[in-house]
Amino acid sequence: MAGRLIIISNRIPTNEHLSGGLVVALHDALACTDAVWIGAHPDPGDNIEELEELIGSKYQKFAFRLTEEEIQNYYLGYANSVIWPLCHRRGDLVDMRSEYQSAYLKVNARIARLVATQLEPDDIIWAHDYHFLPLAAGMRELGVKNRIGFFLHIPFPALGDLSVLSKPETFAADLAQFDLIGLQTRSDVARCLEMFRADPRAEFLPDGSVKFNDRVTSVRSFPIGIDTAGFASEACHAGLPVFGRETPEEYIIGVDRLDYSKGLPNRFRAFSKYLETRPLGRKPCLVQIAPPTRQQVRAYQDITRELEEIAGHVNGTFAELDWTPVRYIHRSVPRARLARLYRQAKACLVTSLADGMNLVAKEYIAAQNPDDPGVLILSRFAGVAEDMTEALLINPYDIEDIAKAIAIAMDMPLSERKERHAASLRIVEATDVSTWSKNFLRVLKERPISVDFSR
Ligand code: UDP
Ligand code: G6P
Repeated sequence: MAGRLIIISNRIPTNEHLSGGLVVALHDALACTDAVWIGAHPDPGDNIEELEELIGSKYQKFAFRLTEEEIQNYYLGYANSVIWPLCHRRGDLVDMRSEYQSAYLKVNARIARLVATQLEPDDIIWAHDYHFLPLAAGMRELGVKNRIGFFLHIPFPALGDLSVLSKPETFAADLAQFDLIGLQTRSDVARCLEMFRADPRAEFLPDGSVKFNDRVTSVRSFPIGIDTAGFASEACHAGLPVFGRETPEEYIIGVDRLDYSKGLPNRFRAFSKYLETRPLGRKPCLVQIAPPTRQQVRAYQDITRELEEIAGHVNGTFAELDWTPVRYIHRSVPRARLARLYRQAKACLVTSLADGMNLVAKEYIAAQNPDDPGVLILSRFAGVAEDMTEALLINPYDIEDIAKAIAIAMDMPLSERKERHAASLRIVEATDVSTWSKNFLRVLKERPISVDFSR
């Protein structure tokens, strides 16, 4: 019997709106499969030695519980206050504490055990993201021989930055326990290989794979995508006006979890700069959807406060009785509604300072009317920019550069908008979410079974 596909991630969809690239992509990729998805229960609990079935999806879902303390130390702590800032080039925000690291290792060891007890010999395991770097190592210790793949949704860290970890050498050793390491971009692959090259325990085999102690692993890029056709058809869906009675004359859209990696303060400042020089009589809005995320972490509280201040300042400076320039919505909006919001927007602003891929950029392109498309203003530091070179690329650290791009986008001639959009759409179509998951699984299944060099 063909083995099952077992997906493991920290976040798993529940009844709430999907927000966050990992859940959105996997939910779409698994829609037509009989995969089993295992993730953290949204509520803390003490029955941590069991998996509970969650109902209500086309695929099977199981949840593991985390205690309150584990949410604090493993999720908010090590995952989101150490690894996340490290991978997003914010070493200054890394909060290194021994209780974070021990909780992270303990949770990983437990999940490894919980999954190992359920495994059949032909099952394939696919672990996702920075919450589970040591998962394969934990499973190998238990004697698991199954193929285990890993996909990192966020940027791969620079070699030098790994030194902020208390044991940087375990980063490579843990990753080498996976049979396949999937990354978003070719630059991520280059950084990962640089790490292995600098490690005396690693040896490169003629086929490009890496032999590390007793195992062989491959490193490849698999740019993640969206359900392009499905999203485009959502965007065309007729329905009540998305803004109700308050439809702005013309607007630019931004959609991001309120994360410091998304470059939101500079985006607002650049919009303000654009307003200073805009043509007379023009009253554009910046509609910014920014749902809260990881709010117990100090750095997220700080960025929320900062953004609210800037939004207040811009509106205080420019608003008129019939015009609020910045519409800042600190809540999650369902994707079906987002699709229609994107379609009507003159431009979309993606200003990430670092970003694994950025699905919002792909969604905006997929949602456009090809006969009258809007303009994507895209940070060079988002993974998607590696291929989507026909977007209006900007440096998110340079406020004037972003403001200039806004001015260009607002008045771009139709022929140029159509050309840029068509080129960007080809990229979105070529990296559809089903292509992403099929390619990853094909390579994982095709890999020669790892030779056990220890014998
Ligand atoms: N999203 C959403 N509602 C919101 C905000 C975001 O559905 O209010 C979705 C958005 O459409 C996209 C995902 O969340 O599919 C965000 O993915 P992205 O890769 O852009 O960023 P991430 O959150 O993974 O860093
Ligand atoms: C990014 C990460 C995901 C994460 C998502 C939302 O997309 O790559 O792993 O699920 O952000 O963050 P959260 O902490 O709410 O799961």
